[in-house]
Amino acid sequence: MSEAIVIAVDGPAGAGKGELTRRLAEVLDFDLLDSGAIYRVLGYAVRKAGLALFDEDSVVQEAKLLNLSFECMDDGVHVLLNGEDVSKDIRTEEAGNNASKVAAYPSVRQALLQRQREFLKEPGLVADGRDMGTVVFPKAQVKIFLDASAEVRANRRVLQLQSKGKSCDFDSVLQEIKERDVRDRNRPVAPLKPADDALIIDSSDMNIEEVFKMATDYITQKTGLKF
Ligand code: DC
Repeated sequence: MSEAIVIAVDGPAGAGKGELTRRLAEVLDFDLLDSGAIYRVLGYAVRKAGLALFDEDSVVQEAKLLNLSFECMDDGVHVLLNGEDVSKDIRTEEAGNNASKVAAYPSVRQALLQRQREFLKEPGLVADGRDMGTVVFPKAQVKIFLDASAEVRANRRVLQLQSKGKSCDFDSVLQEIKERDVRDRNRPVAPLKPADDALIIDSSDMNIEEVFKMATDYITQKTGLKF
């Protein structure tokens, strides 16, 4: 039986899961599953193939054939589709929204389930997403639900975009975040919600150091892993 440890981190867009999970995976030397990237690549592949996001049959066919790989490079993990680096293309707000649309189809989620589970190997996995603790790894030893108010998340996203030299408008970012929340929380299969046994961290008034400390204290308590 595998002794691999799963640390599942779920939560809405912009709550800071990416930074927390990257740090946890690095410090623990665990693999990292960025499940959102899989849905982002799928949305991108569907659009690139000239297919419609609302056509569930086509989207599920793309999901089954998706030739996706993650590659570690000096500046972080890159995402490849058919061997082509699409890391930048999938990080736009539009790609996030398209991902949320394709992710709403139960058949698509089913088609991608096993692929996500295959990321688990010893010594362990840090899994970032919306349904890591509820559906993909329901037996995860550690489940964290990282939340923050929509306004705080929109503000963080604006600062992030500005730091990359991109201009953006707070109100439209906030509206997009709220739309994505509604879709992700209300879909019939694997909706965004905390697992019953998850630690909920509301990071609205916390910085990353405080979030990291709260998460690592909890991981130590649940698994004995030391930081
Ligand atoms: O984490 P992210 O912003 O990269 O995710 C993009 C979208 O993908 C998100 O709005 C909903 C979907 N998603 C999902 O449905 N389930 C996951 N486990 C991860 C992401």
